[in-house]
Amino acid sequence: MVTIIAVVGSSNTDMVIQAEHLPVAGETILGGHFFMNPGGKGANQAVAAARLGGHIIFIAKTGNDIFGKQSVQLFNDEGIDTTYLVSDPVNPSGVALITVDKNAENCIVVASGANATLSKNDIAPAKAVIEQSGIVLMQLEIPIETVCYVAEIAYAKGVQIVLNPAPACHLPEGLLKKISILTPNRREAEMLTGVKLRNMESAKLAAEKIKGLGPETVIITLGHKGALVLHDNSFTHVPGFLVKAIDTTAAGDIFNGALVVALSEGKSVVESTRFACKAAAISVMKLGAQSSAPFKLEIDSFEFHAMENSIGWENVE
Ligand code: RIB
Repeated sequence: MVTIIAVVGSSNTDMVIQAEHLPVAGETILGGHFFMNPGGKGANQAVAAARLGGHIIFIAKTGNDIFGKQSVQLFNDEGIDTTYLVSDPVNPSGVALITVDKNAENCIVVASGANATLSKNDIAPAKAVIEQSGIVLMQLEIPIETVCYVAEIAYAKGVQIVLNPAPACHLPEGLLKKISILTPNRREAEMLTGVKLRNMESAKLAAEKIKGLGPETVIITLGHKGALVLHDNSFTHVPGFLVKAIDTTAAGDIFNGALVVALSEGKSVVESTRFACKAAAISVMKLGAQSSAPFKLEIDSFEFHAMENSIGWENVE
């Protein structure tokens, strides 16, 4: 039987400029190449999962404008079920301004627009579909009340809930207790726990603290150092892979999309994390958000080399 993955989250259009370095406050810099690219953490995760063979229903809200219409067309082209996409008659589609520097790092400012109005009422028509899903995947670029509402629906029916807590914000205790797998990155893990992640020991401490807040399983993504999994009371460090990164935008989104596909295929949490690390590694070799999401064949045909464990913790995001 096919496992349906319901992705609930944001959709943006990304306006990206590459530059030598990220500007500091008050600074104007002359950048290089500019491009527009579909983005938004929810949409990126939905597209990544669809490209890797997942059966995806994407629940989101776009504006009744050219960006919104383009996004819906793109989701349909990717084979994503858009039945429960809502068009906001008032607010514009989400837009993100992104700068990417020569070290592949980025800074992002999001104008949420319609994403910020995705409400319980918008979700209600999709209730039965959420209940019938095998996995629900969410992030935090939509209102937290909506995330909690979806979690309630899914939890009541025993649907596995994967929450990528990005961008970081205060998470209600009741929500965390319903989460099957929480996937913070280093910064988000630090914000959730107050523990500075400087090495694997501190990462383990943070993972334990997060687990104490409610989620059954914790996967802390560690950029080029891979991911730390805390599952069934045991830690596994899944190493990152050696690649030439040019743009890390959406690497976390690609990770989450790939993770849920592997889980939906019955792979173990650790195996799914390994697959997700591979997908994320491929994505950082390409520019953009959804444009960097790999297809299954790219992962299968790439020769992966695990990153040395001795590589330091600088720039781990
Ligand atoms: O995670 C990357 C994404 O964050 C971008 O695509 C941007 O739209 C913001 O949502």
